[in-house]
Amino acid sequence: MKRTTALLGVAATLTFASITASALAQSAAEPSGSGGAGIMGTGDGDGAFITPGKFSEPTGEKMYKRVCAGCHMPDAKGAKGAGMYPALAGDPNLASGDYTVYVVLKGLHGMPGVGRMMTDQQVADVVNYVRTNFGNKYKDRVTAAQVKDVR
Ligand code: HEC
Repeated sequence: MKRTTALLGVAATLTFASITASALAQSAAEPSGSGGAGIMGTGDGDGAFITPGKFSEPTGEKMYKRVCAGCHMPDAKGAKGAGMYPALAGDPNLASGDYTVYVVLKGLHGMPGVGRMMTDQQVADVVNYVRTNFGNKYKDRVTAAQVKDVR
């Protein structure tokens, strides 16, 4: 009977090349006189929901990503699954700014009126965003005053 002796000669030579301390050298102390900008940390990571029950998204784009994309998808191509979420990309119905405002404010069948939790300006911003992105090129901008009328 032959005995096999396994020689586990693992010569692991780990070379720790100079890990420079440069990455760690950045002290937390900013040079003085940097303007005091950057007061962060109110609300959650991307600044949404600073005021509970109200959206505080600063731009139409962020509002879209935060509120609409969950159903209409980030690329606005819609989705089919438990429900039918229509594409907003290349959507001829968006030709009417008033219609788009109306849907966002009042909802439509399976879509809740998410605009109720937004200011007139926020509704206008997100409507203008979807009407000028995702292949939509409707140049006329809806205004906060228009939103107020529909509300
Ligand atoms: C909870 C899911 C949900 C959210 C959030 C949502 N939608 Fe919708 N949306 C729908 C559904 C479902 C429909 C289709 C309603 C129907 O026709 O039955 C729809 C329809 C629409 C329509 C009508 C499309 C057409 O061709 O007539 C527009 C415009 C629209 N949504 C815009 C938005 C915008 C802008 C936002 C974000 C501010 C948003 N939606 C957020 C689910 C949602």
